[in-house]
Amino acid sequence: MRQGRKPVRLLPEDTARRIAAGEVIVRPASVVKELIENALDAAAHKIAVEVKSGGKDFIRVVDDGLGMTREDVRLAVFRHATSKIESVEDLAKIYSYGFRGEALAAIAAVSRMTIETNAADGEVGTKLEVEGGEIKAISDVARAHGTTVTVRMLFFNLPVRRVFLKSDNYELRLIWEQLRSYALAFPDVAFELISNERSVIKMPAVNSLRDRMLQLFSRQTVEALLELRVQNPSLSVHGFITEPSQLKGFTEVQAVYFNRRPVRSQSVVKAVYDGYSPLLSGKHPDFIIFLETDPSQLDVNIHPTKQEVRFADERFLFDFISEAVNSVLVTSRRQQIHAEDVFVHDSLIDNTRTVSDFWQLHNSYIFAQIASGYVIVDQHAAHERILYEEVKKSRQRNSATQGLLFPITMELKPEELDTVEHLQKRLCEMGLEIKVFSGRTVVVETIPAGSYMGKDELRELFSELVRIRSDKVLLEEELAKLVACKGAIKAGQRLTPEEMQSLINRLFLCTEPYFCPHGRPVIIKISLEELERRFGRI
Ligand SMILES: Nc1ncnc2c1ncn2[C@@H]1O[C@H](COP(=O)(O)OP(=O)(O)OP(=O)(O)O)[C@@H](O)[C@H]1O
Ligand SMILES: [Mg+2]
Repeated sequence: MRQGRKPVRLLPEDTARRIAAGEVIVRPASVVKELIENALDAAAHKIAVEVKSGGKDFIRVVDDGLGMTREDVRLAVFRHATSKIESVEDLAKIYSYGFRGEALAAIAAVSRMTIETNAADGEVGTKLEVEGGEIKAISDVARAHGTTVTVRMLFFNLPVRRVFLKSDNYELRLIWEQLRSYALAFPDVAFELISNERSVIKMPAVNSLRDRMLQLFSRQTVEALLELRVQNPSLSVHGFITEPSQLKGFTEVQAVYFNRRPVRSQSVVKAVYDGYSPLLSGKHPDFIIFLETDPSQLDVNIHPTKQEVRFADERFLFDFISEAVNSVLVTSRRQQIHAEDVFVHDSLIDNTRTVSDFWQLHNSYIFAQIASGYVIVDQHAAHERILYEEVKKSRQRNSATQGLLFPITMELKPEELDTVEHLQKRLCEMGLEIKVFSGRTVVVETIPAGSYMGKDELRELFSELVRIRSDKVLLEEELAKLVACKGAIKAGQRLTPEEMQSLINRLFLCTEPYFCPHGRPVIIKISLEELERRFGRI
């Protein structure tokens, strides 16, 4: 947009105030968010939110928190007035939601606001009336300790903003989502939402997140959730994620919190999805993830509405969450299968079984007869499981190796060479003996016994190795998964009956034969009873 040159001028204070307020207060739901945060910072046990016309005409938040003295409340409606920090250093140890001293001033600048508050029962409270940022009246009021903030005619002095608000129902939904996100973070606080004089939801205080979820979601949704809890010195996570068999095409809740602050975090969402892969197949999980960390590791001051935060080490965060999710899923599937007690291992390691009992379908799946029916084994997944357990044991005793008749020579990219040199000792224990020659040439002399690795697989291995950074939380785990995956028989590879028999016998010597290291099933059992049912015999 080109215009003729005009001199630079300072904006009149009233205009500047409204513009600044517009960044913090975008719509009725932002008012509700700020007022709930203030109530929680004031240690309220009970918070009621009342709105009319989707909050456009009327929003009232009542709390039973610490309240304010007359001096406090007079100041509180001006910008940069806060009781929560004293200097910028305090941001590194902040546990309260507020720290800018902006919210009440911003709301006051774009509405007609009344605050009624009292810091001690039995004393006289204060009623403060503000319009467009100017204090209009201060008077006495009788009320118990706590604070009531009433916001009328939001954006009455920013008509364009008011016009762009959506329907009452839509705005109410956003308010409801804000309330829900704090209700999940504080199960021990009672919340109520009233819209157009009707109670939308009333949640008494409860003892656990699970009980709060039961107030908010259907029993079916809550029962489909698995608990997640992993601790690390610099970060810990707890919460709930959908059990894989209950995944749906839509989501009901995907909430992420840092130190109880609800945030939008693409990297956490991606990490959760990554932890599920490959189980999602187009479906979506519900999740509620609470991350706790030292506040100095978190920058909460990067967005005007504080809904985005930055964690000091985003890469670590991603790996940590993805692995936490993955390990919970793998454990749960394992427990399920054990609970169902599908069949006993021994029925398969039967030496009297002849090789003709094994049959290969599409060079990918092995069929084997068992007493109560038959099993289908995914040959790649089975072999992955076997190799994975072997290389994991190799810390105590080196893995058996298989010398290559013709060692494989290859040239690596600089970053690949770097990683190989860094992990050389551990790879050697796992059975991969690699010598570095001049320049970037390496020679692979042995591979883990029983694995199938040619030049192509080794190439893939080296290039994927780079992605496993040495500071990964579970380096060992990832390395074992990778070596197992690359060394395993592929789908499409023809096997002799002897090879099939040996594979299945080795599988059942594993501690966890039912799932591959990524959590996919290795064996499916079809019982005679099921066949009979399907053929209409029973
Ligand atoms: N419901 C409340 N109960 C008690 N004190 C309150 C309440 N709401 C606001 N205050 C007081 O008023 C001050 C200003 O509130 P305001 O929301 O404007 O700023 P803040 O919470 O300090 O920071 P932020 O702008 O980041 O929210 C607070 O620091 C607090 O002392
Ligand atoms: Mg605040």
